[in-house]
Amino acid sequence: MRAMHVADEVLGLFAAHGGNTYAEQVSMEQHALQAAALARASGASDALVLAALLHDVGHFLAQPDSEFGVTDHGTTGGAWLAERFEPAVSEPVRLHVAAKRFRCFVDPAYEEQLSSASVGTLRLQGGAMSAAEAREFEAEPFAQDALALRSFDDGGKVAGLEIPALDEWRPLLDSPGFRL
Ligand SMILES: [Fe+2]
Repeated sequence: MRAMHVADEVLGLFAAHGGNTYAEQVSMEQHALQAAALARASGASDALVLAALLHDVGHFLAQPDSEFGVTDHGTTGGAWLAERFEPAVSEPVRLHVAAKRFRCFVDPAYEEQLSSASVGTLRLQGGAMSAAEAREFEAEPFAQDALALRSFDDGGKVAGLEIPALDEWRPLLDSPGFRL
């Protein structure tokens, strides 16, 4: 029953919470739309485009624990999506916070490209991974997708960009192939 209404559920969450900015320059809805548009433009799979659109849904599902929103929103959002979509959607989302910590481990200069809010959450999330954590991350089946999602996430923070509205993603959200 619930799976039939996943698009309504997602659009409802954005309507309720998508206007929050969590210390970024763009609203959560704008950020999600930009991340999805970047994924689409890069030729990503439909599953990864959906992951980009929904990667921060965890911020909508729990009480913010800092000015940056829900610190553990990857886990929260990944679990919520895993009940509604296949792992190709939910797993990159679950891992997208870990992907940031991984990239900071392999490329210390990466941190300089992050928005100040993203650096703020990085501190709360444990900073760069240790070598052992990085090995564990690399063994995840969706590690590469999570890293690609990370770049859409980081790029999707441009103030004032004109891009397609959320409702245009409804058909993709409703594609039966992505629901359990
Ligand atoms: Fe994000």
